[in-house]
Amino acid sequence: MTRPLKLLVLGGTRFLGRHLVDEALRRGHAVTLLHRGLSGPGLFAGAEHRIADRNGDLAAALHGGPWDVAIDTSAYVPRHVASLAAALAGRVGRYQLVSTVSVYAEDAPAPLAEDSPRARLAGPATEAVTGETYGALKALCEDAAGQAFGAGRCLIVRPGLIVGPHDPTGRFSWWVRRFLRAAAVGGEVLAPGDPDAPVQFIDARDLAAWMLDQAEAGGHGTFNLAGPVGGTTMGALLETARAQLSPAARLTWLSEAALLEAGVSPWTDLPLWLPAAQAALHRTAIGRAVAAGLATRPLAETLRDTAAWLATLPGDEAVMPATPPGGPPRPQPGLPAATELALLAAWNRR
Ligand SMILES: NC(=O)c1ccc[n+]([C@@H]2O[C@H](COP(=O)([O-])OP(=O)(O)OC[C@H]3O[C@@H](n4cnc5c(N)ncnc54)[C@H](OP(=O)(O)O)[C@@H]3O)[C@@H](O)[C@H]2O)c1
Repeated sequence: MTRPLKLLVLGGTRFLGRHLVDEALRRGHAVTLLHRGLSGPGLFAGAEHRIADRNGDLAAALHGGPWDVAIDTSAYVPRHVASLAAALAGRVGRYQLVSTVSVYAEDAPAPLAEDSPRARLAGPATEAVTGETYGALKALCEDAAGQAFGAGRCLIVRPGLIVGPHDPTGRFSWWVRRFLRAAAVGGEVLAPGDPDAPVQFIDARDLAAWMLDQAEAGGHGTFNLAGPVGGTTMGALLETARAQLSPAARLTWLSEAALLEAGVSPWTDLPLWLPAAQAALHRTAIGRAVAAGLATRPLAETLRDTAAWLATLPGDEAVMPATPPGGPPRPQPGLPAATELALLAAWNRR
């Protein structure tokens, strides 16, 4: 290993950040976390915790340092980046910002590369993070990072869908839950659209390892982070899930047209599924990250580990993800069982 680093993690107790801190401690780095103390209580006794809300002034909480790298998983509006930089007042070497592939403009053509056009806020400046503003606000966070820390000291990380144990969003894990239910009660699983359609996602642990490699190597620049390296398809994803979690289940593929006609919402009702016309998010160019060492674990491992994590949750959370603390309740992704049954029955009657 390189010399141990002093890392400051803005966040670090929920999902991606949790894996980052876990791996950083495993690698022997010294970690300071800043968070509100709401998520993951009791985690990481081996790290230093600073309790603060980054919507307020961080100067008091961020005394001391200096830190080699600040890793920011929890900036959603540019003010978060600017106020962090002001509070640190130069007491950090480099800055990693977790942005998103949602920064790309809705009409940006696939494949999405790091220089593809980014979204802009439609109206006047807002700090309301919604499905419509999230990407454009992250783009402004990226700009604020460059201004506050200097482009040569910033690593801008644009992940696609992040998956794996501790995922609070219930999207990829909805499929894991769905196959676990099929293993328990048997039967047919609705599979959406074209089995040959590409799908992309990245295991949070692979992303965390890559970011820490970059922290150790002094990496900077802007990178899309998605996987698996080498690519996969919806068919391969669902077949692997079936084989790993519910070998007796049967997949029934419903056409994109039938699903859209029945009013099924892409991405939310059937997570990861996007109609061909909207599928740019599954066509993100990741060559730059791969050239910088990105490696992704086998899909079967991500599926098995996600299932093992779900098995540790209390009953209701194992069936449906809990809303993260401090945020508004959010709609749960995934088709209700009765709707799926009705869709399958209608398809099979054709
Ligand atoms: N999930 C995806 O598929 C996906 C895809 C692309 C990009 N991203 C990006 O990935 C990042 C990772 O998010 P994560 O939730 O996995 O990170 P995380 O670091 O594991 O969890 C979020 C952390 O932020 C802290 N936090 C939240 N609000 C805060 C506030 N106002 N002040 C201080 N601390 C606060 C939380 O602790 P407390 O609650 O205790 O404060 C928690 O420690 C996000 O920036 C997201 O935009 C996610």
